[in-house]
Amino acid sequence: MGAEELTAEFGIAGILDFIETQHGMVKAVTSLDGMTGELYLQGAQVTAWQPPDERPVLFTSANSAFAPERAIRGGVPIVFPWFGASRHTPTAPQHGFARTATWHLDGVETTGSGSLTLTLSLDDGDVGSPFWPDRFRAIYSVTFGQTLSLRLAVQNPAMHSILFEDALHSYFAISDVAEIAISGLAGATYIDKADAARRKVQTANLVTITAETDRVYLDTSGQCVIEDRGWRRRIVVGKDGSASSVVWNPWAEKAAAMVDLGEDAWRGMGCVETGNIADNEVRLAADAEHQMSTAISIAAAR
Ligand code: BG6
Repeated sequence: MGAEELTAEFGIAGILDFIETQHGMVKAVTSLDGMTGELYLQGAQVTAWQPPDERPVLFTSANSAFAPERAIRGGVPIVFPWFGASRHTPTAPQHGFARTATWHLDGVETTGSGSLTLTLSLDDGDVGSPFWPDRFRAIYSVTFGQTLSLRLAVQNPAMHSILFEDALHSYFAISDVAEIAISGLAGATYIDKADAARRKVQTANLVTITAETDRVYLDTSGQCVIEDRGWRRRIVVGKDGSASSVVWNPWAEKAAAMVDLGEDAWRGMGCVETGNIADNEVRLAADAEHQMSTAISIAAAR
């Protein structure tokens, strides 16, 4: 559906609008009680969320191509059905196909408490990936409000179990990478992707970023909190149905090679992702559903 048809079916005057960009992509733009948000139908990707009287919470790179079938750098890409390079097919696209597929908008709902929920879906018929033989149906609910709540449900309509990884790859806007510390991961084992995938243990209470950081923390089902001293705020990343957490910042050298990021942008972004990855991949029985959700909110600095 194009922007005009979407506006006719789902638009809410002054609250929800659909816009076609210069590259022919369609995005939903919402504004409600001082909160603003934005979501591209490609990838069902939330690219902006800003509660009233707050700075933007998500980082989205202005240098992104914002072009069809190109991954958007920032916001919350959906990683599915594999994380990183596919372990089975090295030529498959990094982080799966869900982030570059166009999702269907199935419904919009407002609630009395100043929030708006968009429900989107994607199934194997929309994707037809040569790298993924299985059937699936994914349903994604995005609630823009005082909290940004994201829930990804994956259903297995097949007669046999399926195996997948997933992640809500949230990019956060931060004052400066040197000013943040992440709590919630102490004692966890992580796969250090910046050091030949060695397994290490998080001994320090807080994760700080002082070099390229690319870690998959295993068996971490609790919330993470980003303490940002520069902006005197905490970003609380609550989650459910997720056993892995990823912390990623490319640092200067890698960032310089990423045309969609821009030279200095890496200092103002940090990814803390909610997922089920590697040892924590999901085995979903026939006819079953798996849900993973994250609730992102802002709290004052301690
Ligand atoms: C992170 C991965 O989740 O995403 C990193 O752990 C990767 O290894 C990063 O570099 C960005 O991936 P992409 O495909 O969006 O450039």
